Amino acid sequence: MTTFVHNDLDVSAAHVVASGQPLYPAVERTSAVSAIANHANTSPATTEQREAIFADPGFGRYFSDNVVRAVWTKADGWHQAELVAGSASAGGLGINALHYGQSIFEGLKAYRQADGGIYTFRPEANALRFQRSAHRLALPPVPTDLFIGAIEALVRQDQAWVPTDPDQSLYLRPLEFGSEDALGVRPSTHVTFVLMASPVGAYFPQGVKPVSVWLSDEYVRAAPGGTGEAKCAGNYASSLIAQAEASDNGCDQVVWIDAIERKYIEEMGGMNMFFVYGSGSSARLVTPRLTGTLLPGVTRDSILTLARDLGYQAEEGTITVDQWREGCASGEITETFACGTAAVITPVGRVDSKNSGAWNIADGGSGEITMKLRSALVDIQTGKAPDNHNWMHRIV
Ligand SMILES: Cc1ncc(COP(=O)(O)O)c(C=O)c1O
Repeated sequence: MTTFVHNDLDVSAAHVVASGQPLYPAVERTSAVSAIANHANTSPATTEQREAIFADPGFGRYFSDNVVRAVWTKADGWHQAELVAGSASAGGLGINALHYGQSIFEGLKAYRQADGGIYTFRPEANALRFQRSAHRLALPPVPTDLFIGAIEALVRQDQAWVPTDPDQSLYLRPLEFGSEDALGVRPSTHVTFVLMASPVGAYFPQGVKPVSVWLSDEYVRAAPGGTGEAKCAGNYASSLIAQAEASDNGCDQVVWIDAIERKYIEEMGGMNMFFVYGSGSSARLVTPRLTGTLLPGVTRDSILTLARDLGYQAEEGTITVDQWREGCASGEITETFACGTAAVITPVGRVDSKNSGAWNIADGGSGEITMKLRSALVDIQTGKAPDNHNWMHRIV
């Protein structure tokens, strides 16, 4: 049996955005769960099988030997926390998540550093965002100690699945869904939490190469009062048609515009965006403000901090499609990049659209500040640079 005791995390100060509002307000610890029972896979993959996967892991194609799962019911709260082999399936075809989309998830990575230690990056921020997503989808929040305890238990058990190549990592996927096997549009009375892990290489296999983006004029990702700031399954289902439209128009990714005025830039696919004004030490970075329709990215929040550490002005603001196009034409906007856990930082080189024109960002290449910020963040995650903000959480 693996007990999971996690020290109290002071998350209140670490996630305060410029407006002074906590980005990830803490919720009460309600967990009665004090241990994750270890029923690990008795026939895990062999070293040879893992090495064959590490040779070309792709993204999310393979899973480690085990998962952690726990169940919530009204009567018992969170219970039956256990580390078990293989499949994460729960419930039959009637489950609420399948019919009504009561399902949320998270994404973070475990990194193996040169000293052999295995770390995750700001897991408490993901725990708190998971709780906020749960609230919006009328799901019971997974307590922080269960969330982080599950990560610790699974990464410890499946540590051989954390690649040694610094360009690879073990992607961790917490998932929570309504698992009551009964029809009816109401919050599920039986809920399952699962943590699974997948060894991954680069999210964009072509490497750090600027992407082209398609402005989505027709489809909207999120509207005020909707679920835009929750990491819920439905947001991704409804994004697929716009991503397909982007591909049909020869673009790598879709850029979302606000639902009301149809002019403010919000996000790129599953990543937040930054716009760089000017260059050198006087450069200023702007990222779209969190209006309730954007996902509050952990990477976005970290880049606001790192950019200031590097001496740049970095702020939340607004930018319209016209300002983006005209800023690039005048040379005022020198770089644009997107950021998120999966791909870290990706330069944006070109924009295309049906109604708003097409243009390059500077020469369409990877900007200097973009790449500097990318290295600053990756170096902390891989242990090459000091972790001045206590973002790394050691597991092994
Ligand atoms: C819609 C969306 N925006 C932004 C992000 C970036 O968030 P993070 O930096 O926490 O990975 C993600 C990924 O989780 C996402 O799905």
